[in-house]
Amino acid sequence: MKIPLNIWLFLLMKKSYKKEIMKGKILVTGGTGYIGSHTVVELQNSGYEVLIIDNLSNSGADIVDNIEKITGIRPEFEKLDCLDYEGLERFFQKHEDIKAIIHFAASKAVGESVEKPLLYYRNNLVSLINLLELMPKYHIEGIVFSSSCTVYGQPDQLPVTEQAPIKKAESPYGNTKQINEEIIQDTVKSGAPIKSILLRYFNPIGAHPSAHIGELPIGVPQNLVPYITQTAMGIREKLSVFGDDYNTPDGSAIRDFINVVDLAKAHVVSIDRMLSNKQKEQVEVFNIGTGKGLSVLELITAFEKATGVKLNYEITNRRAGDIEQVWADPEYANKELGWKAETSIEDTLRSAWNWQKKLREKGIQ
Ligand code: UD1
Repeated sequence: MKIPLNIWLFLLMKKSYKKEIMKGKILVTGGTGYIGSHTVVELQNSGYEVLIIDNLSNSGADIVDNIEKITGIRPEFEKLDCLDYEGLERFFQKHEDIKAIIHFAASKAVGESVEKPLLYYRNNLVSLINLLELMPKYHIEGIVFSSSCTVYGQPDQLPVTEQAPIKKAESPYGNTKQINEEIIQDTVKSGAPIKSILLRYFNPIGAHPSAHIGELPIGVPQNLVPYITQTAMGIREKLSVFGDDYNTPDGSAIRDFINVVDLAKAHVVSIDRMLSNKQKEQVEVFNIGTGKGLSVLELITAFEKATGVKLNYEITNRRAGDIEQVWADPEYANKELGWKAETSIEDTLRSAWNWQKKLREKGIQ
């Protein structure tokens, strides 16, 4: 019997899909959050099987549906708090063949961390400690940790490399990132049979081009881009630009705005590297940024140009705790991870705007 070409193709695709899925099982903590959900999508796209745990404190279980809409694959999801040691242990007993963890689950509002330091220290530190304690017992090879350029404070030299000194943290949130990096370093140094990759993100922005997932701030946004899109939508009256008297060309602060899908892909290549034993050291650190600094005012102009929407904004005082300027030297990540930020700022801002419009359509914001 002659098999039609389309059936051949289908069988071939099914086979290669099966082969791809054998890449391994990855646990993503905080996988329904902003960066977590984009990372789940990219992991699935590159053939990993993904399990998500999330306590849903800052996201909804419907994100799992939205991930499935994008990839056609439903990640397994369990509502679980990383503070719950026994719950985690039960989870690992159920899913014994997890190869690695990407740990996003953490509290991340800088201002809130100043008001509730103990909440931040308990949540962010104990969650990681629980995972690190359980990993060897369940033969989990490594952990990719979601760190931040906040560990550099205001660097003396720009662009900032991974060798730049760690500065005293400005907030309990920032301090939890620093301490967590040290906890991982010390644990590995003590001989624990695990590897780690610390990814220091610069300023993640934008949304998935499908507009099925994106950033969903609760209440008044603290970060710049959600505030911009909400102002453009008319939810906020005007954007405050915090300071135009910095020592920068236009006086506003400068950041390295990195597309969230590009950032998500950095996690996939980190997992590839870890699981194929390509790490040069048991703990590696990478800057994940574009290498280009953009001022707040330049970002506003780029948004207006990309979307055709005029933004209502005013210059106000500096925000306490803000640094003047920071952008990454991403060379080490480019070379070692074979990863590079690719998406233009215009496409990124358009994706953020499309996401905001989608939220409006759904009646969410
Ligand atoms: C902050 C944290 C960083 C964290 C990141 C993600 C610090 C120093 N940095 O980055 O560790 O990973 O959030 O949550 O705590 N801006 C305005 N108007 C606004 C909002 C922001 O002008 O309404 C300005 C800020 O002053 C800043 C820039 O936009 O200069 C970016 O701010 P934001 O998006 O909040 O990120 P960071 O403060 O850089």
